[in-house]
Order: sequence, then C-alpha cells, then structure tokens
Amino acid sequence: MSTLPESSITNLLRPYLPDVPPDLPPKLSVYLDLLLKWNARTNLTAIRDPEQIVQRHFGESLFVAQHLPSATHTLLDFGSGAGRVTRWLRATFPLAALDTCDLREQDLRFCQDAFQARTWVSGTSIEDLQAPNKYDLIWLGSVATHLSSEGTERLLLKMLSWVNPRGLVVMSLHGRYALQRQGSGHFRYIDDSGWERIKAGYETAGYGYSDYEGQKGYGISLTKPSWIASLVERLPSARMITFSERAWDDHHDVIAIQSI
Ligand SMILES: C[S@@+](CC[C@H](N)C(=O)[O-])C[C@H]1O[C@@H](n2cnc3c(N)ncnc32)[C@H](O)[C@@H]1O
Repeated sequence: MSTLPESSITNLLRPYLPDVPPDLPPKLSVYLDLLLKWNARTNLTAIRDPEQIVQRHFGESLFVAQHLPSATHTLLDFGSGAGRVTRWLRATFPLAALDTCDLREQDLRFCQDAFQARTWVSGTSIEDLQAPNKYDLIWLGSVATHLSSEGTERLLLKMLSWVNPRGLVVMSLHGRYALQRQGSGHFRYIDDSGWERIKAGYETAGYGYSDYEGQKGYGISLTKPSWIASLVERLPSARMITFSERAWDDHHDVIAIQSI
C-alpha cells in the first residue's frame, strides 16, 4: 500500500502548484515510496517525513519549475564538481544542451562521459569568464558558499548576464542553519579563528567570509537572507522567484532569480 493516498499528495502540493495535473500524484506516490524504502537503508535524503518530502522536495521544486521558460533547452551547472546535481538535470531534461563547468578538469571529464554534458574549464577571475552559450537555467550548488561577498555579487551578475530573458539563476547559500551547526559543534566548516571572522561579518554586514587556512580567495561564507534579498533589490532586470531556507538537503538556503 502507498504511504500517502494520492488525494493527500494532491492537497499537499496545492500551495505550490494550484492545478495539479491528474497524472502527477500517482507518479510522485511511487517515487515517495521508493525514497522512503531506500532512506530506511541508506542516507539518501535529509528530509524523511513523507509529508515534508512532498512539500519540500516535490512542492518547492515544482513551484520553481513553473517559472522556467516554457521551452527550456539550455542548462548550465556552474561549479558542477562531479555532477551531484548534473545527473538530475540530465534526467529531467534528456534532450537539453547541458553544460557543466568547474575548475577541476577530472570532474568535468566524468560529467562529459556520464551525462553527455558539454564541459568547459572555468577560471577564478569571475569578470573574465565567458560562456559558450546563453542559458535558460543556471544552477550554482555550493559555489557562493565558498566565496567572499564581492565574489558572490560578481558571480550573480555574471550569471544573470548569461541567462536568456525569463531564464533562471538558482543558487545555494549557507544561512542560519549553517550558523547553528558550527555553533553547536555539530559540524565544523572551518577552523575556529576563521569562524569568528565569518560570524563578525555576518552580524555586521549580513555576509561573513573567511579563506580556508592556507588558501586565498576560497573559503566559507555565511549569508543572511536580507543580504541576498537586498542585492536582488538593486538589480532592475532581475526578480526573486523564491527564497527558501534549508531548501537543499535540509541544509543550504536556495534562491531562484529570474532575468526580466
Ligand atoms: C563544494 S563544491 C560543489 C560541487 C557541486 N556543485 C556539488 O554540489 O556537488 C564547489 C565547486 O565549485 C567549483 N568552483 C569554485 N570556483 C569556481 C569557479 N570560479 N568556476 C567554476 N567552478 C568553481 C569548485 O571547483 C568545486 O567543484
């Protein structure tokens, strides 16, 4: 028997997707049961409560997806690493032109082979970056989480210059949950003195950053929702579609911004 009746799935999805297509709840019901079955055996998703899975994994994703251009043909996973999210982009858009870029060439070779991605090696000077395409969707998973406020601002502006009209830039950020995690000793993102610098910047400016020990220009950042919201407010050709705290893996905050 299914964990949740299809009618419950429909009701849980309504706030995100007012007109739930009738063929969707049966498919999500199968997927929900699969997630629960495997979550009992391995660490698959952070959110494990069935209703929360429907709301936060399915509902929030469907909400953002409604804002994608109707024909989404071109996608970029910026800072893809070894394709943790690229695989989902490929599964969702099997025919799309999918690009991935990163600084790590070996990871890119994997993405090319495994997901038929066109790959290109990026660089650390954001201003100098040039993309081989314009995109309907750019995903940046855990990239701004390692950059200074200037780096994140530059990166967002660059990404918005690479999307087609009505295209989306979706990025993850460390927010209040990351603050709690290191504060409670649950997880250590960085050494203690770096963390003190980050907290000071977070409290005073809404964005805290410190280089990793021994590195220059790459470290850990913490961002207040108000900091990223005020950055978007200053961009006349962008609008915020959604901001959700702990939306990715019950950990990173996620913001979706549309070019208008
Ligand atoms: C924490 S990893 C996240 C990887 C992947 N997005 C994921 O979620 O598994 C950050 C990635 O951003 C990449 N990166 C950092 N700066 C970059 C830049 N300027 N251009 C492209 N990639 C960059 C790093 O090489 C690394 O693979």
